[in-house]
Amino acid sequence: MASRSGEKLKVLIRRAAIQKRVREVAQQITRDFKGERVHLIGVLKGACIFLSDLVREINLESSIDFIAVSSYGKNKESSGQVRVLKDLDSSIEGLNVILVEDILDTGLTLSYLLRVLEQRKPKSLRVAALLDKPSRRLKPVKGDYVGFTIPNEFVVGYGLDYAERYRNLKDVCVLTLTPD
Ligand code: IMP
Ligand code: MG
Repeated sequence: MASRSGEKLKVLIRRAAIQKRVREVAQQITRDFKGERVHLIGVLKGACIFLSDLVREINLESSIDFIAVSSYGKNKESSGQVRVLKDLDSSIEGLNVILVEDILDTGLTLSYLLRVLEQRKPKSLRVAALLDKPSRRLKPVKGDYVGFTIPNEFVVGYGLDYAERYRNLKDVCVLTLTPD
């Protein structure tokens, strides 16, 4: 796909590899929750494509909901401030919740969300993340189901954006900004 001038894209994870890994993660979830229902909560907007593919590969009674938190805006760096912009539609009390994230970076978003969701008394609470950048961690959080561990690069595609663009790329790509 074409990038804007001054923005360069390089494929990091191809669509076929993503598809294969998403299926493996879904199979793991299916095994772990055999005979039970799972409730997937997608963190908008980045996780929406991962969640859509993931839930269709899970062979269990499933339901979905979404939560939106404040994002980085146009910047590539986290402000460290997290705020709920759109809350869940329904209660999670007694449910096996899987929080679905696009990427674990500093861990600030995740640690905040885990605190909020834990207070609502789910039966269990796990984290699925397509990508993990452990080298950037500021809070000691980890994913229970991680698609790919990646180096400290800014990535876009498969739901991840830069200033709201590139979410529709089928591959995960590294974005670099080049002076014109
Ligand atoms: P954290 O709170 O720093 O862990 O950041 C989590 C959120 O930051 C993710 O859900 C993404 O929306 C965004 N983010 C972090 N790293 C990247 C990246 O490389 N590309 C695009 N968005 C990112
Ligand atoms: Mg996100």
